[in-house]
Amino acid sequence: MQHFLVFYVCIGAIIKNEFFIKTQLNKNFPIKKAFVMGSTSTIAQQICMELALKGCKQFFLLARDEKKNNIFAKNLELKFNVKIIKKIIDLNQISELDPQTKKDINDYDLYLLSAGYLGNTELANNNLEESKKITLVNFYSLLPWLLQITTKKRLNSKGRLWILTSVAGDRGKPSNYQYGAAKSALTIFCEGILLRCINKPFAVRIIKAGFIKSPMTKDIKPSFLCTNPSLMAKKLLKNPNKRGIHYFPWWWKWIMFVIKIAPESIIAKL
Ligand SMILES: NC(=O)c1ccc[n+]([C@@H]2O[C@H](COP(=O)([O-])OP(=O)(O)OC[C@H]3O[C@@H](n4cnc5c(N)ncnc54)[C@H](OP(=O)(O)O)[C@@H]3O)[C@@H](O)[C@H]2O)c1
Repeated sequence: MQHFLVFYVCIGAIIKNEFFIKTQLNKNFPIKKAFVMGSTSTIAQQICMELALKGCKQFFLLARDEKKNNIFAKNLELKFNVKIIKKIIDLNQISELDPQTKKDINDYDLYLLSAGYLGNTELANNNLEESKKITLVNFYSLLPWLLQITTKKRLNSKGRLWILTSVAGDRGKPSNYQYGAAKSALTIFCEGILLRCINKPFAVRIIKAGFIKSPMTKDIKPSFLCTNPSLMAKKLLKNPNKRGIHYFPWWWKWIMFVIKIAPESIIAKL
């Protein structure tokens, strides 16, 4: 009797899951192929799940941690029956892309740049290696990829580039200015691309995130200040064609407005 009960509960769960996936699927969903730089990131994984749920069929998952990336890829593949391509990258080193990679990344509907490194500011203040790593991972090593994604030809056809940057880039604070400086450089660089695309079919979206629950913010107290990454994924995918610079959650715009005009004596304590 007990076995039958377990069997029916399992079958029920499978049918419910299938039904849930089917009801979310949207035939006209414009993102069928997604390129994800930093696919082991908590936020990127939530976005990938949401993309697959809506109808994205192919993922190019680029990450540093091969084991973690393989586990996530398998999970995505099994759950949504999608095609996966994987590549291992370490953004702590910068190099020109090889001709094959340049070719491979040409025709994605969405390019999501999610890799990032908060680093240890105290260490970085006296250590060039750490300081360099923060700049490389958050900005400099993304350049070969950004240059390839935003060729003149590519920007003249439909596509999307989403960049996860940070409110930390809005003002230098003693606690995280090295990370903030790199994110600020990334934001300004991508704002330039966004403006280049203003009358083009290619849409650029810069997301200035506040605190989001992930390994990066595990020490943030109180934790209620951290927003759920799945909520972020859902919000972003509500309007997949949106372009512009947006704070997430939206109220960070007002927090940063205050921080930007606050006197130096106050910011010096942050
Ligand atoms: N969480 C927040 O509150 C917050 C706020 C503002 C902006 N952001 C930005 O949002 C993005 C996603 O962050 P998250 O919260 O999802 O953090 P996360 O889970 O810690 O993800 C960070 C990602 O960056 C990758 N990465 C770090 N160093 C790398 C390197 N040298 N080479 C290649 N990849 C590297 C990590 O890969 P491994 O798995 O190999 O370590 C991981 O995929 C980041 O750009 C972050 O700066 C986050």
